[in-house]
Amino acid sequence: MPGTIRATLIAALVATVSALSLSDVCTVSNVQSALPGNGTLLGIELIPSSVTANSVYNASVSSMLSTSSGTAYNYCNVTVSYTHPGKGDKVVVKYALPEPSSYANRFYVAGGGGYSLSTDATGGLPYGAASGATDAGYDAFSYSYDEVFLYGNGSINWDATYMFAYQALGELTIIGKPLSQAFYSSSDKVYTYFEGCSDGGREAMSQVQRWGAEYDGVIAGAPAFRYAQQQVNHVFPAEVEYTLGYYPPPCELEKIVNATITACDPLDGRTDGVVSRTDLCQLNFNLSSIIGESYYCAAEISTSLGFGFSKRQAEGSSTSYQPAQNGTVTAEGVAVAQAIYDGLHDSEGRRAYLSWQIASSLSDADTQYDNTTGLWELDIPSTGGEFVTKYVQLLDLDNLSSLENTTYDTLIEWMNTAFFRYQDSLQTTVPDLTTFQSSGGKLLHYHGESDPSIPAASSVHYWQSVASVMYNSTSANTSWNDLQSWYQLYLVPGAAHCGTNTLQPGPYPETNMDIMIDWVENGVQPTRLNATVSSGTYEGETQMLCQWPSRPLWKGNSSSFDCVFDQKSYDAWTYTFPAFKTVVY
Ligand SMILES: *[C@@H]1O[C@H](CO)[C@@H](O)[C@H](O)[C@H]1NC(C)=O
Ligand SMILES: *[C@@H]1O[C@H](CO)[C@@H](O)[C@H](O)[C@H]1NC(C)=O
Ligand SMILES: *[C@@H]1O[C@H](CO)[C@@H](O)[C@H](O)[C@H]1NC(C)=O
Ligand SMILES: *[C@@H]1O[C@H](CO)[C@@H](O)[C@H](O)[C@H]1NC(C)=O
Ligand SMILES: *[C@@H]1O[C@H](CO)[C@@H](O)[C@H](O)[C@H]1NC(C)=O
Ligand SMILES: *[C@@H]1O[C@H](CO)[C@@H](O)[C@H](O)[C@H]1NC(C)=O
Ligand SMILES: *[C@@H]1O[C@H](CO)[C@@H](O)[C@H](O)[C@H]1NC(C)=O
Ligand SMILES: *[C@@H]1O[C@H](CO)[C@@H](O)[C@H](O)[C@H]1NC(C)=O
Ligand SMILES: *[C@@H]1O[C@H](CO)[C@@H](O)[C@H](O)[C@H]1NC(C)=O
Ligand SMILES: *[C@@H]1O[C@H](CO)[C@@H](O)[C@H](O)[C@H]1NC(C)=O
Ligand SMILES: *[C@@H]1O[C@H](CO)[C@@H](O)[C@H](O)[C@H]1NC(C)=O
Ligand SMILES: *[C@@H]1O[C@H](CO)[C@@H](O)[C@H](O)[C@H]1NC(C)=O
Repeated sequence: MPGTIRATLIAALVATVSALSLSDVCTVSNVQSALPGNGTLLGIELIPSSVTANSVYNASVSSMLSTSSGTAYNYCNVTVSYTHPGKGDKVVVKYALPEPSSYANRFYVAGGGGYSLSTDATGGLPYGAASGATDAGYDAFSYSYDEVFLYGNGSINWDATYMFAYQALGELTIIGKPLSQAFYSSSDKVYTYFEGCSDGGREAMSQVQRWGAEYDGVIAGAPAFRYAQQQVNHVFPAEVEYTLGYYPPPCELEKIVNATITACDPLDGRTDGVVSRTDLCQLNFNLSSIIGESYYCAAEISTSLGFGFSKRQAEGSSTSYQPAQNGTVTAEGVAVAQAIYDGLHDSEGRRAYLSWQIASSLSDADTQYDNTTGLWELDIPSTGGEFVTKYVQLLDLDNLSSLENTTYDTLIEWMNTAFFRYQDSLQTTVPDLTTFQSSGGKLLHYHGESDPSIPAASSVHYWQSVASVMYNSTSANTSWNDLQSWYQLYLVPGAAHCGTNTLQPGPYPETNMDIMIDWVENGVQPTRLNATVSSGTYEGETQMLCQWPSRPLWKGNSSSFDCVFDQKSYDAWTYTFPAFKTVVY
């Protein structure tokens, strides 16, 4: 067919498609005929009779994009089931397909939170993207993965494990892309994005690692990856207290954190309440100098969400009473904080894992008050406790009942058991991203530097693993330059876990998807990351964050900073883990 005629036909076709209304295309029969046929997607058979489709008008959408609030969206709400041939299972997926005039040839998947996949399929609508959510074959719309992980004591639900770990999201995408094209009668490339934080960040990394050819742009925040080490590490602060035999009142640790922030804030060149250089704090500040400072916290009744970042976990929330706390920081309190920031080592002094950056709050170290004895006692966070009971010991229990007779070596054994058991599923640290890179994928990875849940150094370590595995024959400078053309890491000064920090009024990136779309679709490679300060003296300030491995250094309390490289600081972020006999990426 001559080019001009073909172009005219395509133009006519495009005009026809976008002239169609939502109700024209949002029909069961249009969706059924848009389904990829059996035999086209290896290992997936879609069930046409399961299709539902209805038009939804004037919907509001929860999105990371602030401009989407107050905007109304029209979309086609589609559900369909599929099975894995020969398995007799059933996986339900749902898609939100924007009305034809809003469709921008994009597909978008959002990540979920602790032990959960996202249940909301509408996150792509503000970007003109079709998007989806999956029940992963274990009714993930109603249950979190940890609720279905054990069939019974000692019996792992491996199907749910692999589906949660990476498979369900990859399948959601490989179905969603051709479905979108056929639904809109379009053969244009579907730009495909994934965005998530915390376990959603791990899910993002799982897609880069396992389905690298499917995604054009992936945004991974504070990924909960290196699962075995990360989850057991939640027990580490309690183990420090148990080992040292000192259970600090929470106010004492809060004071240690506050005093550290105050002392280290100026080291980055500007006194703004934010420790932008925790490496300089680690290298130059001695926690012992806080001993003797006084602290005071008023009595409070606090409600703990338990797990902390998954709404379904909120049922386990508990209310606790704290009396007023008035005292001075003790040597024992500082020893606890120091041991936590130093990270887990075995009984022979070999490092097993990295830790939270100094100046991060020590929330996993919180003790609980016993009203009858008037003493502060051990409180094992259920994030780590549940992982040990369910995923390591394979007992259907939600928390460890005690740390009696355990040592640091016990924690390392737990990590080691989980490391081998979940190496190819939950661990999510495959360092060879060649498939993703060679198919043109772009990865934007960010992490709050003062994250008290998932250490920022965890993200740095993965970046270093990718650099050393993928560029081993090239020099560090060359490999870092090349890496930045498709994989960029940003540490967010002062930020906490997937959000801002009440103790440090620092910047937070809010426009990641816009930046990513520009990078993928227009070739605009970012060099810095746009972030905005939302509280404190500098509220409203835009900071263009430094790309790792460069680090910010403010110019004498002014409003600008340089991005510098400093080998001593870089080395302070670099770890090996000789307590394990195999490489921990
Ligand atoms: C594809 O296979 C599934 C079951 O494996 C079946 O239910 C469905 O009808 C098949 N689709 C078509 C279009 O035949
Ligand atoms: C959606 O909102 C617009 C503007 O408020 C209104 O005109 C329209 O009737 C609404 N559509 C439906 C289906 O509710
Ligand atoms: C989408 O479709 C499902 C399945 O029919 C239905 O349960 C759900 O309520 C629909 N959602 C909206 C917003 O219409
Ligand atoms: C720590 O700092 C925060 C924020 O400035 C403040 O609300 C809190 O009371 C301080 N806590 C202690 C123990 O000093
Ligand atoms: C911190 O100061 C204490 C008390 O002066 C000292 O014993 C300790 O060695 C110092 N720590 C470091 C890492 O310098
Ligand atoms: C804390 O205790 C000291 C000494 O008992 C007392 O002087 C001070 O007023 C107390 N502070 C508060 C806020 O209760
Ligand atoms: C704990 O003791 C205090 C003071 O005796 C009392 O006011 C408070 O109600 C008690 N709280 C609980 C949860 O028992
Ligand atoms: C977990 O168990 C420990 C020990 O029984 C307890 O101190 C802690 O409060 C529990 N945590 C939760 C969130 O239930
Ligand atoms: C599983 O093991 C735990 C711990 O031993 C026990 O409390 C629980 O009853 C067991 N569950 C079943 C169904 O046997
Ligand atoms: C801890 O060790 C002591 C001494 O060996 C033993 O009597 C006790 O039962 C152990 N406790 C637990 C919980 O294993
Ligand atoms: C290559 O790998 C070796 C061994 O893992 C490592 O020591 C070295 O730093 C790597 N080289 C680069 C340039 O990353
Ligand atoms: C940063 O993002 C904000 C909000 O989108 C925008 O107004 C500003 O122009 C951006 N700044 C830069 C330097 O890109």
